[in-house]
Amino acid sequence: LEKKYKIYGIVRRNSCVFNYERIDHIKDKLNLKYGDLTDGSSLVSIINKIISTNPDFEVLEIYNLGAQSHVQISFENPEYTSLVDGVGTLKLLEAIRCLSVENQKKTRFYQASTSEMYGAVLETPQNEKTPFNPQSPYACAKLYSHFLVKNYREGYNLFACSGVLFNHESERRGDNFVTKKITNFVNAIKRLKNDINENNDENQELPILKLGNLNSKRDWGHAKDYVYGMWLMLQQENPDDYVLAMEETYSIREFVEKAFAKINITIEWQGENENEVGLDSKTKDILIKVDKKYFRPCEVELLLGDSSKARNKL
Ligand code: GDD
Repeated sequence: LEKKYKIYGIVRRNSCVFNYERIDHIKDKLNLKYGDLTDGSSLVSIINKIISTNPDFEVLEIYNLGAQSHVQISFENPEYTSLVDGVGTLKLLEAIRCLSVENQKKTRFYQASTSEMYGAVLETPQNEKTPFNPQSPYACAKLYSHFLVKNYREGYNLFACSGVLFNHESERRGDNFVTKKITNFVNAIKRLKNDINENNDENQELPILKLGNLNSKRDWGHAKDYVYGMWLMLQQENPDDYVLAMEETYSIREFVEKAFAKINITIEWQGENENEVGLDSKTKDILIKVDKKYFRPCEVELLLGDSSKARNKL
């Protein structure tokens, strides 16, 4: 919107009709259409509609950010994840391939690839040349899309890029991703402690944050920077794939410690594996428990990106 683009978006029909919480403040400035990545005809008709209502358009940038993006849920819904995150990309690429030559030349495609494709990493840090070793249905589907983009770029000359993005976070992150789960909890504890102090109610029980693997490491950045990187990829003369990363890695345990430090609580860890707990070092209240429900059948233990190509070229 800041760039004065005319923006179209695809919305999945959902029984909760007004599920626009995260875009409510800008919804009126967007052209939203019902569609679905599993429904190829909806994608074709939306793209055709955009072109026919803007016959003199200069560039059509298509960002495929749609996905079943939760890694753990992909183990529970593997087929759906594959259809949306894998075949959905194929449907979009086919819709572009079938455009007239003139319109195709004016169309640029961005694919949200992911550092999850490195999986059980074969090299550290990970860059564009690192071999992939996916560890979830989500990562397998994303890898399929990643190679499709390369095929369509090389085979049909489409302007199609993949951004291999490491974890990117913001206040808009969904509540069941680890950063938001932790920061929401820390906020709740802060509010509760304020209430307890105001009301002198020392018997009030504190809630407990249940987490999975505390030792996996992630290379986290801010989503807004990553979106800028996506846009830059589509402004280049030639299409290519790029890794975007902060080039620093921290464990979930460190994230927890840093988040609690913001409200002046030092976490003390006790026990091991699924019996591990985190206590407030002063009051000895248990604030965190490991719950094996959040362990994944296969885990990605260490992600650390090397984004020197993007830093040099973009
Ligand atoms: N979600 C979640 N919930 N993760 C937990 C928890 C928990 O209670 N406890 C520990 N973790 C660990 C996970 O096992 C994982 O190692 C790490 O925290 C991060 O998990 P998520 O925040 O769910 O993100 P992700 O790294 O699996 O995937 C995100 O980043 C990818 C890019 O690398 C998603 O945004 C993907 O869509 C994206 O591709």
